[in-house]
Parts: sequence; structure tokens; C-alpha cells
Amino acid sequence: MKKILLVLTAIFMMIACVGCGGGEKKAEQPKDAKPTAVKQAEAAPAPSGNKKVLVAYFSWGGTTRNVAKLIQSKTGGDLFEIKPETAYPKDYHATIDIGKKEKEQNVRPKLAGPLPDLKQYDVILLGYPIWWYIEPMAVKTFVEAQDLSGKTILPFATSGGSDITSSVADLRKTLPNAQVKDGLLANFTGSIDGWLKDNGL
Ligand SMILES: Cc1cc2nc3c(=O)[nH]c(=O)nc-3n(C[C@H](O)[C@H](O)[C@H](O)COP(=O)(O)O)c2cc1C
Repeated sequence: MKKILLVLTAIFMMIACVGCGGGEKKAEQPKDAKPTAVKQAEAAPAPSGNKKVLVAYFSWGGTTRNVAKLIQSKTGGDLFEIKPETAYPKDYHATIDIGKKEKEQNVRPKLAGPLPDLKQYDVILLGYPIWWYIEPMAVKTFVEAQDLSGKTILPFATSGGSDITSSVADLRKTLPNAQVKDGLLANFTGSIDGWLKDNGL
């Protein structure tokens, strides 16, 4: 009798335990349950609102400044103007000559301070006019002033016709530990939205 009782108890326990998939079994979800907000956030690419964005630019004549302001208004980032301590002359030809000499001599013009603390930014949109086929030397002073390792740099430029690729290549050489993305030549501002979108902003 005792044996029969033991066998019956064992059978009952086995039946009761069918479907216990161990301690990690998750609570059952109704079939039409919607994914939680947390799950949706995990699955979606990080929205630009999560990234701290800086739009830093140098401009001599104002064209790049206008583009920088437009980009700032679209991204909601902070805006910073890179200014040399000694302003370039108002005369175009005089500035052309200085810009040429600065590039040939690979100088780093001193900047007017204070500079923003770049540690706090995830993405730096870096704007400049093309000077002698690349970025002006003052832009190099700016990017070399702080450690930009791991930062995403999005260059944009205006020019009289040259493209941006030489300056992007030069920035990649200058900042081997940053992620310098393909730049945007923003002579035509209609291309800005697509470029920002392609870069998750
Ligand atoms: C010193 C200097 C060098 C320039 N070099 C070039 C160049 O190599 N290629 C080009 O297409 N435009 C060149 N430009 C023209 C500027 O890139 C262009 O006018 C730009 O839109 C000016 O922007 P900004 O008004 O913000 O200064 C140069 C202008 C200056 C003053």
C-alpha cells in the first residue's frame, strides 16, 4: 500500500510539473500584447536627441557662418565660432596671401578663447571655408587643442568650387583616433537635410 501511495505521489508531481520550464520561465504575454516602450527604444537607432551635438565653425566672409547657423537650427546643438586671436584682414587678396602662407608653413594660428569643453559632446559638426584646397589652419588649431579620441566629427564646408574631400582626408590624418565622417560641401544648402539624416541627426 505504502509503495502504491509513493508511486501515485510521484505521478502527481510529474503531472503538476509539466510546463514548468525551470526558474527562468517568463510570464506569459497575451497574444496581442504590444512591445513595451523600453523594447522599442532598444530596437530603434539612437535618436539625435540622445546625442550632445556641437556645431563649431570658422568663417571669414560669413557664408559658412550662415550654413552653420542653419545646421544648428536643424540639429538643436550648441553653436561655437572658431575665431583666430588676430582677425584676418577684411581685404580678400590679403587674406588669400596669409592663408597660403599659413598652409605652406603649416602654422597653427592662436585662437581667441575660451574654447568649449569638447569632452561633453558626442558629435561635432565642423564647418569651414575651403582655403587652398583644405581646411584653414585655424580649424586645425581647434581640433588639436583637445583630445577628440572616439568623437564623431562631421565636416561641412563652403568653397568657390573645390570639393571637401582633401580637407576630410587631412582631418582624418590629423585626428586618427576620431571618427571623421565623409563631409558635406554645403554650397547648396538643399543637401543638408539628407546628410544630417544619413548621419543619424
Ligand atoms: C584664403 C582663402 C583661400 C581660398 N581657397 C579656396 C580654394 O582652394 N578653393 C575654393 O574653391 N575656394 C577657395 N576660397 C574661397 C572660399 O572657400 C569661399 O568663398 C567660401 O565660401 C568662403 O566662406 P566664408 O564666407 O565662410 O569665409 C578661398 C578663400 C580664401 C579667403
